Amino acid sequence: MSPTYIVMLGPPGAGKGTQAKILAQKLDLVHVSTGDLFRENLKNETELGQLAQQYMNKGELVPDDVTVRMVEERLSRSDCEEGAVMDGFPRTPAQAKAFDELLEKFNSEVSVVPYIKVPDEVLVERLSGRWMSPSGRIYHEKFNPPIVKWIDDIDGSQLYQREDDKPETVRHRIEVYNEQTAPLIDYYRSQDLLVEIDGTQTIDDVTQDIMEAVRKAAA
Ligand code: AP5
Ligand code: MG
Repeated sequence: MSPTYIVMLGPPGAGKGTQAKILAQKLDLVHVSTGDLFRENLKNETELGQLAQQYMNKGELVPDDVTVRMVEERLSRSDCEEGAVMDGFPRTPAQAKAFDELLEKFNSEVSVVPYIKVPDEVLVERLSGRWMSPSGRIYHEKFNPPIVKWIDDIDGSQLYQREDDKPETVRHRIEVYNEQTAPLIDYYRSQDLLVEIDGTQTIDDVTQDIMEAVRKAAA
């Protein structure tokens, strides 16, 4: 069977990361988050991390060529042979085109694009209350709280807030999304790959809707 590539589309805070982790586990695919990859590079103080930081802290996008190269390298590893759940990539029309070309090289194509829709006012509340674990697990002080405040349920590590989750940076990230990423909605809709998902539901209900979309796409 040809590999499965699911592209999670949606604004900052829509729940792409939350859902991508669940899907990857359910479908036994790798979760590829470009945001997480950049943050990992930042933590390891690589050159790529230092470059990305300048953009991320301002809520701007990292240049396409750098991002595409990083994704190509990641998807070429053997753990991605069955495909991947893409979270935060592609994020510009140029990235979408580069991604199509890359998948062509792998004799594959995008399988389905769940587009998680959430209104702007909800996004700000979600991001200002988001607590991250160094492991990448995602919590929310109200909507998905850990058992003990600020402590990861699984490994006990200290949770933290993302540097770019400050309200003014969040607002800019939403603007950048509307300008640079929202055009992908039509791009994937015109290829009949887009499935709109109501992202204001509970995490479990959102997962169910996305799983149904994935099943239909595979049928
Ligand atoms: P990235 O890390 O991808 O951030 P983002 O797209 O802004 O999205 P978020 O991670 O903030 O939100 P999410 O949709 O994953 O929501 P989550 O599941 O956490 O990118 C960061 C930066 O890296 C970019 O600004 C850019 O600089 C750079 N970058 C990354 N990719 C790039 C690319 N391709 N090109 C160029 N630059 C790139 O959920 C949010 C919160 O809500 C959590 O607290 C969660 O618990 C809660 N929640 C989730 N679902 C629900 C629900 N159904 N109900 C209630 N609460 C919920
Ligand atoms: Mg995320």
